[in-house]
Amino acid sequence: MAFQKLGVCYYPEHWDEALWREDARRMRGLGISIVRIGEFAWSRLEPADGRYDFDWLARAIDVLHGAGLEVVLGTPTATPPKWLADKMPDMLPIDAQGRPRKFGSRRHYCFSHEGYARECDRIVSALAETFGAHPGVVAWQTDNEYGCHDTVESYSPAALRAFRDWCAAKYGTIGALNAAWGNVFWSMELASFDEIELPNLTVTEANPAHRLDFQRFSSDQVVAFNRRQADIIRRFSPGRTILHNFMGSFTAFDHYRLGAELDAAAWDSYPLGFLERGRHDDAFKLRYMRVGDPDYQAFHHDLYRNCGRGRWWVMEQQPGPVNWAPWNPAAAKGAVRMWTYEAFAAGAEVVSYFRWRQAPFAQEQMHAGLLRPDSQPAPGFGEVEQVAREIERLRLSGGADRADVALVFDYESAWAWGIEPQGQDFSYDELVYAFYCAVRRAGLSVDVVPPMAEAVANRRLVLAPGLFAASEDFVAALKTADIVLLGPRTGSKTFDFQIPAQLPPGPLRALVDLKVTRVESLRPGASIRAHGLPGAFERWREWVEPGPNAGVEAVAADGEPALLRQGGRYYLAGWPDEALLDALTSRICGEAELPNLALGPDLRIRDCGPLRYLFNYASKPRDISQLIEGAELRLGGSELEACGVAIYERPT
Ligand code: GAL
Repeated sequence: MAFQKLGVCYYPEHWDEALWREDARRMRGLGISIVRIGEFAWSRLEPADGRYDFDWLARAIDVLHGAGLEVVLGTPTATPPKWLADKMPDMLPIDAQGRPRKFGSRRHYCFSHEGYARECDRIVSALAETFGAHPGVVAWQTDNEYGCHDTVESYSPAALRAFRDWCAAKYGTIGALNAAWGNVFWSMELASFDEIELPNLTVTEANPAHRLDFQRFSSDQVVAFNRRQADIIRRFSPGRTILHNFMGSFTAFDHYRLGAELDAAAWDSYPLGFLERGRHDDAFKLRYMRVGDPDYQAFHHDLYRNCGRGRWWVMEQQPGPVNWAPWNPAAAKGAVRMWTYEAFAAGAEVVSYFRWRQAPFAQEQMHAGLLRPDSQPAPGFGEVEQVAREIERLRLSGGADRADVALVFDYESAWAWGIEPQGQDFSYDELVYAFYCAVRRAGLSVDVVPPMAEAVANRRLVLAPGLFAASEDFVAALKTADIVLLGPRTGSKTFDFQIPAQLPPGPLRALVDLKVTRVESLRPGASIRAHGLPGAFERWREWVEPGPNAGVEAVAADGEPALLRQGGRYYLAGWPDEALLDALTSRICGEAELPNLALGPDLRIRDCGPLRYLFNYASKPRDISQLIEGAELRLGGSELEACGVAIYERPT
């Protein structure tokens, strides 16, 4: 897409039809060009089994299209209506405690229930057949936020049957499964695939290999569920963009694999809600309560861009207070505008706000929209108006290039370390995110990528902390990158969730010649200082035996190797605190000939083609004259206000 577009989420079924035309006119006037509708409207589209009522939707699409708006049509499968849940009560998901999750909100379905999947085929086919060729419909959204409200795993009879089939297809013989899972331990050996149980309600922990396979299976079920819809839509609505709106910090299914079957990825960005719900301490939350964590949005932009193989949108952008975090503050003046530019800087085609008008009823009545419930503009409205005018004038070209830095983020590793953290606070997401923030503090643009050969080959710098297992071709591709940083825990398991025969880092020993001989986790407050580098290991440390080809670059205070190196490949033997991480980043960036701009906590940069975007997350203006070094600004000033955005030609 040549130019960035603005969009909005709209629910015609929530409003009197007399309002639609005026709403559409105001959207257009505001500079909105795309509207998402329909994703929760099943009870209005099919009020009773087999009785469709699509007329109102046809009129709504015509009104929007007639006003010059493009439509994204959502499939309504996240909200099966009551008659459907009553018709097949066993479609409800079962939680890990064995309890059904009832009708009365949303996402009350089990991904493995074939009867429900067929009902989805039916409604999606009917919608795609009716609206697939409508000139106003430019894109489709499948379902809504797979995995939201912890709904990927279901411990239902349908899931059990499907899991047994999945295991049979993967292992072929029960002997192979017993060996892979190590079922001789605690007499867990099985005589046939029919004896497999789901890994919940066991007396103590279930076998980690069993749990990991259940997680893989559950992820595959989501991918398969989505595939059915995408196939139907492609058949009836060729040429339209098919996407799904992912969420922040969701790791329960493999987003790369699901994204590979879409035309574009999208995600729902709620900076203030995520901050309040997140893991930062109170001081951090207080400091950023009206702007959000300076790296969180960007991390997801950089991740979902790669889930969509370059094409991605923000489907829902927070416009004001949400209703679902422990506290729901208002956004700082300028924050909505800044978030919008941040997405465009990372290559978004569309930024779409959630939602047009605040609903005065039901669960989300406290959630802001661009309009108040009385249709008057809410604070976000004016900011969207400003962005719309600016992007019209600036005509920035979109699309982010391949970044010099690739940070590997792997869903299976998130599952593996969730199952076996070994230390309560060993969180894979946090580990990867800590590296992401460090590289961003250095002012670099990053691609967050899967552990796949083509994603890392020939990069200037690849970071792969905590990657639980590595394939041979991934290892081979890492050899083509200039600088690589591994560890802690990288390569410490096989894909079957066992310790590699030659000890960690398994096949990655081909990059750095070493063996991890033992490990420990560290409780909060405990740390091991580094020697010759600032900072310390916290949470996790390893004892490493270097082989003849590896050198020790830095040691811990107790003299044990902390950072090892073989040519341009590094291995870090612990979880670095922020000071150690910054020092390490600076060292390896230097090695990769990447500048370290040491931006500190509040300023952030994203490069997009020839342009550099600068964002100020501080609550005060910042003098950026040194950073822009006489470059001509296309947006912003050398004193960048709070929530300010500057855009300029980047230095070469
Ligand atoms: C998203 C969801 C929307 C709405 C929104 C509120 O997670 O997709 O339907 O609930 O949150 O912030």
